[in-house]
Amino acid sequence: MDYFEWLSYKDLEYRDGILYFANMNTIEIAEKYGTPIYIINEKMIRKRYRELKDMLNSVYKKNRIHFAVKSNTNLAVLKILSSEGSFFDCSSTGEIYTCLKSGIPSDRIIYTGNMFTDNDFEFAVKQDILVNLDSYSQLERLTKIYDKIEKKKNLISFRFNPEFGAGHHPYTITAGKEIKFGILEHQVIKAYSKAKELGFTKFGIHQHIGSGIIKANDYEMPAQKFLNIIEKIAEELGIQFEFVDFGGGLGIPYYPETDPLDLNRYSDIVFKRFKESVENGEIGEPYLFIEPGRYISAESSILLTQVNTIKDNGFKLFAGIDAGFNTLLRPTLYGSYHHIIVCEKRGKQEDLKYDVVGPICESGDVLGKERVLPKLSEGDYLAILDVGAYGFTMSSSYNSRPRAAELLINDGNIYKIRNEETFDDLVKAQIIPKHLKEKKSYRG
Ligand code: LLP
Repeated sequence: MDYFEWLSYKDLEYRDGILYFANMNTIEIAEKYGTPIYIINEKMIRKRYRELKDMLNSVYKKNRIHFAVKSNTNLAVLKILSSEGSFFDCSSTGEIYTCLKSGIPSDRIIYTGNMFTDNDFEFAVKQDILVNLDSYSQLERLTKIYDKIEKKKNLISFRFNPEFGAGHHPYTITAGKEIKFGILEHQVIKAYSKAKELGFTKFGIHQHIGSGIIKANDYEMPAQKFLNIIEKIAEELGIQFEFVDFGGGLGIPYYPETDPLDLNRYSDIVFKRFKESVENGEIGEPYLFIEPGRYISAESSILLTQVNTIKDNGFKLFAGIDAGFNTLLRPTLYGSYHHIIVCEKRGKQEDLKYDVVGPICESGDVLGKERVLPKLSEGDYLAILDVGAYGFTMSSSYNSRPRAAELLINDGNIYKIRNEETFDDLVKAQIIPKHLKEKKSYRG
């Protein structure tokens, strides 16, 4: 796909030199609402969700998409996905709380946590939320919680670690012997037979091999291993699974020269053998789940930011902006690439190479390294692309910089869906101990 096709795939285009996102003038938005600001395109969330849903429907009708809430927890985003019929995957009780707050019923949520505390279990069981266990040792503790609050044990699931992982960075590879997640092959039979013995009557199984996978082939070995295990459990324990959850991880093209993930190939690699096993009557007729976050939410959002300082230190050109790794952590934490473009091209002929840097007092606060951009001036606006997944959710108030606001745009309308934090937000949870409240004169 050429560059302009790639932009339009993300609902971006230049009209008379001005950048439009979802048919809306980005400069007008920046001027009206201020920067840095996250802008979420409702249409794109629906579009990517439907692409996945269509792909699944064409393979196997009994399917569910559980949106990985950790990628974007905005209530409006959750509402949009609910209206599409989505289900949800939560990694913490806070995410469950957020989903319930947005009106999502508990039977549409799966809780794939790790290192669960008893309080986590109690919260989930009280709300009738399905728990996807991460360790054999958690099974008895969970059972005790069911018994304590006198709830009937019903459905249980384990996260399987297939030992083959993939991802855009070592931190996002979530399978392998050295990795903390899930249970390995040698414990699987023991886990499900113990669950049966403890009174659970229905079973699911899950794996998630990593995040940011753009080559469908990376799914091949883990998918094979997953199916081998599922067949083994079905055969040895006579378990018919209620669901088989293939996790998320589907990548998006952050670079203009990257092609989108080939969904047909993905579905061939991941689901073909699953379908065969179902057709051969080997594993019953479970629901097929996937748990994508990034694929649905990443391309829905841009981060608008303003250039405040152009600095030529004699060796390098820096473009200083008002968004830093407090606003978007991914480039600093993983070295991730987010494409950066100007909101106005008019009158800009010359291209120059910049390090696009934020205002945080650390040298690692670089959002774009050695980026070729039209010659910038102080006051120019830039758009940082593909920030809808793990963008706002990983932002912080480091350096006491209040978090940014979020806007939703749809059909030519703009809705403010999160206020920018205030200075008061920075201090309001803090408590000054009494002895420090006493008036004392300053020394010296
Ligand atoms: N399911 C489970 C159990 C997960 O742990 C994750 C992501 C997902 C689904 C969704 O993965 P996705 O489809 O979004 O790739 N902060 C990192 C990504 C960490 C993902 C952690 N788990 C980043 O910014 O790239």
